[in-house]
Amino acid sequence: MQIVRQLDPLRDALASFRKTGAKIGLVPTMGALHAGHMRLVDVAMEQCDAVVASIFVNPTQFGEGEDLDAYPRQEAADAALLQAAGVKLLWAPTADQVYPDGYATHVSVSGISDGLCGAARPGHFDGVSTVVAKLFNQVRPDAAYFGEKDYQQLAVIRRMARDLDFTHDIVGVPTVRDPDGLALSSRNAYLTAEQRANAAALPDAMREAANAIAAGGNIADILDAAKTRILGSGFHKIDYFELRDANRLTILDIFTEPARLFAAAHIGRTRLIDNIPVS
Ligand code: PAF
Repeated sequence: MQIVRQLDPLRDALASFRKTGAKIGLVPTMGALHAGHMRLVDVAMEQCDAVVASIFVNPTQFGEGEDLDAYPRQEAADAALLQAAGVKLLWAPTADQVYPDGYATHVSVSGISDGLCGAARPGHFDGVSTVVAKLFNQVRPDAAYFGEKDYQQLAVIRRMARDLDFTHDIVGVPTVRDPDGLALSSRNAYLTAEQRANAAALPDAMREAANAIAAGGNIADILDAAKTRILGSGFHKIDYFELRDANRLTILDIFTEPARLFAAAHIGRTRLIDNIPVS
């Protein structure tokens, strides 16, 4: 596996893949890889001839006071995992290859970026859309792979790709969970043993609420009961716990499919997010 940090050698390597007619798959990441990322790589490996993974901890998607400095960085371990999975090239750009001096262009996807994490983390999705548009232009993949764990991010990227005429496939891959139901996330590494044990209350409450909504219960009452359960299980703050249309991400007061439950809650210094279908 080649590890490339500058745009010129990246373009040379991609040109040599394309010369052979290879279908190129891109798996964008911020590193600290876990089984959820590796599932993206596995799906890309099944569907493509040459898989490129990127690792770039993108400063523009972190707000003030967020965990940019603390975000886990472990490139050597990540590279070993990617190589073992058969990835052909790791694009690990230096910061100036993404945001050169005087960088002044930003991509902002309105509407779908506004609620949920967009409301709790102002500017976050502008940073995501900007860096993902850059990665798409740098790699020009035939398909790009994103986890459904970050469902709103996936929706924002799909909308951006449609609006800006990126023609490659955007593939969403289902969330990978620990046996107790907690969705895998690089941020789970911040949890103490006690917080980690309590964190499963989030997916538990979501599953229970999803079943009750699908059974025809009162949505507001069900959401309130779920929030009370989460706050009684070691979480100290809930950013949102909402039922939304799975495509448009608009709030649903009445259960109509396709629907999804979305949650973000804080435990210790860690903010966890999750989403599940309701059917
Ligand atoms: O999901 C992530 O890891 C990041 O938001 C992404 C898509 C790599 C952009 O920095």
